This record gives sequence, structure tokens and C-alpha cells, in this order.
Amino acid sequence: MEMFLIRGGRTLSGTVRVGGSKNAALPILAASLAIPGAVVVHGVPQLRDVATMLELLNSMGVITEQLNGAVQVYASDEITTLAPYELVRQMRASVCVLGPLVARFGLAKVSLPGGCNIGHRPIDLHLKGLAALGADIQLTSGYVIARCRRLKGADIDLMGPSGPTVTGTCNVMSAATLAEGCTIIRNAAREPEVVDLARFLNSAGANIQGAGTETLEIHGVDSLHSVAHTVIPDRIEAGTLAVAAAITGGDITIQNAPVASITSFVELLSRMGLSVEALNDSLRIRTRSELRPVDFSAEPYPGIPTDLQAQLMALLALVPGESHVTDLVFPERFMHAAELVRLGADIRVHGNSAVIHGVEKLSGAPVMASDLRASAALVLAGLAAEGQTELRRIYHLDRGYQAFEKKLNSLGAVVERMQDPLSPTMSGPHFGTTARNAESPELDRVFDQR
Ligand code: UD1
Repeated sequence: MEMFLIRGGRTLSGTVRVGGSKNAALPILAASLAIPGAVVVHGVPQLRDVATMLELLNSMGVITEQLNGAVQVYASDEITTLAPYELVRQMRASVCVLGPLVARFGLAKVSLPGGCNIGHRPIDLHLKGLAALGADIQLTSGYVIARCRRLKGADIDLMGPSGPTVTGTCNVMSAATLAEGCTIIRNAAREPEVVDLARFLNSAGANIQGAGTETLEIHGVDSLHSVAHTVIPDRIEAGTLAVAAAITGGDITIQNAPVASITSFVELLSRMGLSVEALNDSLRIRTRSELRPVDFSAEPYPGIPTDLQAQLMALLALVPGESHVTDLVFPERFMHAAELVRLGADIRVHGNSAVIHGVEKLSGAPVMASDLRASAALVLAGLAAEGQTELRRIYHLDRGYQAFEKKLNSLGAVVERMQDPLSPTMSGPHFGTTARNAESPELDRVFDQR
């Protein structure tokens, strides 16, 4: 297993480029299952979650090919429509194959995704939507089995207890493109990634109106056709890099930034006292004075994304005064708080909120990533901390950030990826001084500090 060794205290500066959006690419690749022709998706980031999605498609017999950031997908009429537990459990977004499969093939068997580190994440709204379209849904032995002759348009409300559902909207919207008649989805998620999926499906012959608003109107078509599409830039990667500038007192220009889709986040940074300049698709973040504490809630789009809550909390840990953070989307998403406390932060979690008292400094320590965005927050905190931070379980980070340490290092950070000397792969009988030296001299330094 790999880990990061982060030497903190460097001020980041320079220019960095954001890659394609993971959360746009995943439902688009899944929706390719509804299309009998060749699909080419440009700008797909090379991430573990994308690899898992491609593995899932391949396991069904879908032909995929990757070339220079583009992915070609061909789902023939002969594919199987089973998404097995072994793959779905690795990534919840796998459930996005359910709608496209049942709509095109009339049958899908998809494993239930199960638990997750950021809280209870049911898929009841996905199933409610597909059932409203006429799919017969059964839950058997940990699998959803959905069957239909042809889906029929319906009036569906996808509001959940914590707001609309993003992948639920993707699933039901993809399915409705092939349903007979008109579907109205009320309380649809308005996230840019849903809009990108709608653009993709419309280019393939679908008729979806209203994407980006809370009401979608979808006129079903008999079939979809070949399409080429470029995914939008990743707004969460852009936000994470912006926080990297802020937390190190740096000056970073982020290119290919989806500026229009992170306005509430940018407003929050400005409220904190950061200088934020947006010009076309680039965003310059500069720290010019002492930052101010803020209160914010993570909310569905266009609010501040829950996927940036942990990174912002890392920043607020170093902002003098008292800040309050609430997560209205995933009320239990605070696993990173305890790890930030290990680095010296003063954070108290009460229910779905956290109170943060800014400290003067963080100090490097061994910490553990619990989920994707928590790992990003810990990297950011490590960049600002005095001394060395060892971050373990970075496979969480690799799910959603492509070459993250390389991007940070190009801005002046010192983040080293290395084998974790404490991971099972290196703790066998042959593990000793020789193995440590052979692996990396840094490992010895890590050991010496224990
Ligand atoms: C997507 C994103 C994830 C992001 C999240 C919220 C992808 C691949 N993932 O996840 O990065 O953090 O949106 O912006 O795009 N809920 C229900 N019933 C359901 C579905 C969801 O009650 O059937 C609840 C969830 O528990 C949560 C809220 O609705 O409290 C929002 O979840 P949802 O938007 O579905 O998240 P995902 O689509 O899984």
C-alpha cells in the first residue's frame, strides 16, 4: 500500500491545470450502455474510479479503449447486464449502470452498493424513479433486479431527506431518455455533472430539457446513436487546488477552472479575505492578509459542495477565530475532523456541524485517510503543517485526483509517494533493514521518527 510523506511549510505558487471531472465522466461512461453505437468521451481523467467503471463495463462484455485521455466505448446488443458485487462495492457510482441497462435491455441485475465512510447512502430514490417509469424492481440476495418491457414516461419527484440526489437524477434521467412518452423529474439535482450528462445524451439523440434547473422534461426516443463528447473540468479538483494556495499563503493560477460552477465557493474564499481573480477559464488565488473565520453549510448545487467541505475545514483550522461548518448533504461526513485534530487542529463535532477554533500552527503527524475528500483535506493540512506528515491509505485519494502530488510539487510542495512500511505487503518475514533501504531512503527516516 502506498502513502504520502509530506514536508510542510512551503508556500505554493505557479500555474496548474485542472483535469476532466470524475463525477461527470462516471455517469457518462455508465450511460454509454444505453447507446448501441460507438461512444467517444474526451477528457476522461485517469483515476482509480474511472478504471473501476471501465472494468465494470468490460465485465459485461462492453469493448472499451483508451487513447490520450479519450475513452471509446462500444456496448453491443450482446452484452450481459450484470454488475457484480466485487466491482460495485469498490465504487458507489457503479449503480449508475442500472437505469441505462434496464431502459435499453429490459433487464439489469446490479449489486446494492452497501455502506460507505461518509454516512448512510441509500439508493431508494434511484429505485423509486425507475419503478415510476414502470420497471419491476426486486431486491434479492444483495442485488437489485430491474425488469421491464419498455419503460413509460412518468411524473417523478426525486427529493430526498437531504435534498435531491445527483447519481439518482443521472440514473433516472438516462433511463427516461428511452421511455415511451414524456417524463417529468421534479426536484432533480442541478449539479453541473448532471447538466453534462444531459448534454451527452442529447448529442446522442435524447430530448432532455431543463438540465441545470430543478425540473427536467424528457421526451423519450426509440434509440440513441453514436456520439463524441468532452467532459467538463473538475470543479472539486479546482476547489481543492484553490485551498492549497490559501492554506500555504500562496499564489496559484488554476487553468481550465470551471469558474461559473464554483461561484458560492469562490464567494466564501473572498469572504475569508482571499484575493480571487477569475479570468475566462482561469482562477488566481492569492493570500494577501490574515484570513477571517466564516460559517458555511455544504449544500446541493449551487451551494458550497459537500465534496469541498473537508478541504475548507482544513483551511479554517488555521484561520484565527471561530468558524462553523455544517454538512446538509452528508450530515455524518466528519471523519477528517479527528485526523485534523491529530495535526493540532481544534475542532469539535456536534451532530451535523463542527466548530473550529483556528490555531496558530499545525504540526506534522501520522494520519489516516478515511475517504476521498478527507484524504485531500489531510494532504492540504500536511502542506501547511510544520514538519512531516505521513498520510496513509492514499488509495482513497487516487480514486479522485490524478497525479495530485505531481501537481502540488510543480507548485513548490514536497510530497513524496512511497510504499507504506506499515502496510501488510511489506510486513512479511523478509521485511527488514535491507528491504527498507532498497525501497527508499525516506522510509528509514519515517521509521526513525517512530
Ligand atoms: C454524488 C457525488 C458525490 C457527492 C454527492 C453529493 C458522484 C459520482 N458522486 O454522490 O461525490 O458527494 O453527489 O453532492 O457524482 N440519498 C437518499 N436516497 C437516495 C440517494 C441519495 O436519501 O436514493 C441521500 C444521500 O444519503 C445524501 C443525499 O441524498 O444524504 C445526496 O446524495 P446523492 O446526491 O445521491 O449523492 P451521490 O449521487 O451518491
